Amino acid sequence: MLFKKSPEKFWNLIASKYAASPVPDRPSYETKIQKLKNYLTPDKVVLDIGCGTGTQCRDIAGNVKQVTGIDISHKLLAIAEQRKAQQIEAGRQLDNVEFLQTSLFDERFAPYSFDVVMAFYVLHFFEDIEAVFQRIHDLLKPNGLFISETVCLGDKSKLSGKLLRIAGHLGFLPKMNLLTTRQLEQVLDKTGFNIVDKTRFSHSSDSEFTLIAKKL
Ligand SMILES: C[S@@+](CC[C@H](N)C(=O)[O-])C[C@H]1O[C@@H](n2cnc3c(N)ncnc32)[C@H](O)[C@@H]1O
Repeated sequence: MLFKKSPEKFWNLIASKYAASPVPDRPSYETKIQKLKNYLTPDKVVLDIGCGTGTQCRDIAGNVKQVTGIDISHKLLAIAEQRKAQQIEAGRQLDNVEFLQTSLFDERFAPYSFDVVMAFYVLHFFEDIEAVFQRIHDLLKPNGLFISETVCLGDKSKLSGKLLRIAGHLGFLPKMNLLTTRQLEQVLDKTGFNIVDKTRFSHSSDSEFTLIAKKL
């Protein structure tokens, strides 16, 4: 069974190692964050799903009103808090960043409460992607933005995608879906989003598209 029923155990187990690994392609990451900032203004309230160590939350904090990072792993969130505290000590203003161990479906999140919802490298861990997009749609204010970058296992070689999926079914890894970029776009369309930007920031072979979609 291992991680099948409790993916948070997997993320807690690898938290230190995950946190120690550097951003794979720093220049592309910086370009992406700069571009995202074009969509942000100081009045925006942002939710980051699967925030991990909170990198993106801290990196956009100066451009928005409030950022809430949520994750299932208390160990990754503890590292996120630690890094936030270190940066505050170094003089950065991060009082508008909070981290919560909770789910996207937490009832404390009211409909129409966010201007922007971000999801970086987490959507492939959800089985029912349509329910997830519907929930994000509900949480966004009118014209709100959904920013997503997702491993689309369905786009990768059939074998590697299937092996990861089997490992997830057996419980050696958290369960993953075999979504393709095309399917992702179709579900966005079906759940009431209009894609306003689609960019591949890194040119490495396994890089993913960053999609920016507006709630219709
Ligand atoms: C690959 S990491 C990405 C972390 C971060 N978004 C980033 O880009 O650095 C995936 C993250 O999603 C979190 N996660 C996995 N399933 C989740 C779920 N159902 N709800 C919230 N977070 C989840 C994991 O704990 C982990 O922090």
